[in-house]
Amino acid sequence: MENRCPVVIDPAGNDIHAEAARIRANGPVSQVELPGGVVAWSVTGQEAARQVLSDQRFSKDPRKHWVAYVDGEIGEDFPLIGWVLMDNLTTTYGSDHTRLRKLTANAFTPRRVEAMRESVQKIAADLLDALAEAEPGEVVDLKARYAHPLPAQLICDLFGVPAESRAEMLRGGEVNVDTTITPEEAAANVEQWHGEMQEFVDSKRRNPGDDLTTDLISAQEDGSRLNDSEMVGTLHLLLATGTEPVMNLITNAVAALLKHPDQLELVRSGQASWRDVIEETLRAEAPVAHLPFRFATEDVEVGGVTIAKGDPVLMGYAGMGRDPSVHGENADRFDITRANKDHLSFGHGVYRCIGSPLAWLEAETALSALFERFPDLSLAVQELEPQVTFIMNGRRNLPVYLTAKVPAGAGR
Ligand code: HEM
Repeated sequence: MENRCPVVIDPAGNDIHAEAARIRANGPVSQVELPGGVVAWSVTGQEAARQVLSDQRFSKDPRKHWVAYVDGEIGEDFPLIGWVLMDNLTTTYGSDHTRLRKLTANAFTPRRVEAMRESVQKIAADLLDALAEAEPGEVVDLKARYAHPLPAQLICDLFGVPAESRAEMLRGGEVNVDTTITPEEAAANVEQWHGEMQEFVDSKRRNPGDDLTTDLISAQEDGSRLNDSEMVGTLHLLLATGTEPVMNLITNAVAALLKHPDQLELVRSGQASWRDVIEETLRAEAPVAHLPFRFATEDVEVGGVTIAKGDPVLMGYAGMGRDPSVHGENADRFDITRANKDHLSFGHGVYRCIGSPLAWLEAETALSALFERFPDLSLAVQELEPQVTFIMNGRRNLPVYLTAKVPAGAGR
């Protein structure tokens, strides 16, 4: 087998699509170098990804299956240590994972999510009302004022997080996806969010509410099935996943439509639907770009390489959505009319996203309400800056004009 150099991952995520193409050029499964000099496998080919995601020989538990971590070679000085020290669905395997998943997945079934529709619509309407107060011609950051608060408010309402602690409780997840932080910042962040979540859980024990945190606590107390560390880790995961990728999906969809007004026109004229927009955004702009970690529990052959037992693996969701072997030479093009929008952006197999019905509801509501209220929405900048992360695919902000710009001199 040809031995190619690992692609060195840019911690700042300056151009994740170009980087994914470089990685894929080395093969559907090829090596990358992570911050801290750790070499891992990256899966950017869709077919190989489907195989890895459905193969039970891949674990997500570093404590059992990352040989370098077990041997003490990976320590607190690893910049992605936050992704190792979590104790939740994303770091468990086998029966531990099944147990945690049963407890959390129930909260997000399509039926339960349907019951959240009115709340989502109300949050969107209130945020749009607040936006409507902007001065004519004012530049508004739609990420900060719409794409972020919509999912953040919903998930915090669901989990009964008090208004005054929301920003702090969500910060742990925001810092965790920033891949430019130092190992010290990463470790300090883990410690801080553990403390905050533990305090929150303790307060819910004292004052139970009609919320999902109280439900998780009851499940814990009934059958002692969730220990304290798992409880804290699970809450952290759900607040973070409930916010960050949904925010990116909404931001990326709005940005793509504003950059491609012909596509927006297709929706307006009824030739395409919001579902087409969302599916194509998930494919071409996967909200989760490059996700750590899986570990081979034995040597596995996939995508023309052998992943050795104990090797770490990242799933390159942004890359696989644009795999030319599935989507052809124009895989990079945002085209809501393409017949094949196949993607794996919610994962696949036993670790598949439990929040996809909720994400769909939020994105569809957010987009339709936004473009109905502000039909003349336009970008206020030529180029959007990327979010500083290679794990997520987002923008630093989304500056827009809400209403049509009045030409200078008009109305005098
Ligand atoms: C557009 C929005 C979203 C995207 C793109 C997304 C993407 C993903 C992906 C790719 C995975 C699989 C990770 C892997 O093993 O490779 C995942 C897992 C997960 N997601 Fe989502 N997610 C989104 C929204 C949500 C929401 C709203 C929630 C819930 C509040 C959620 C909760 C979870 C959980 C708990 C897991 C872990 C499942 C497990 O390990 O069994 N996600 N998500």
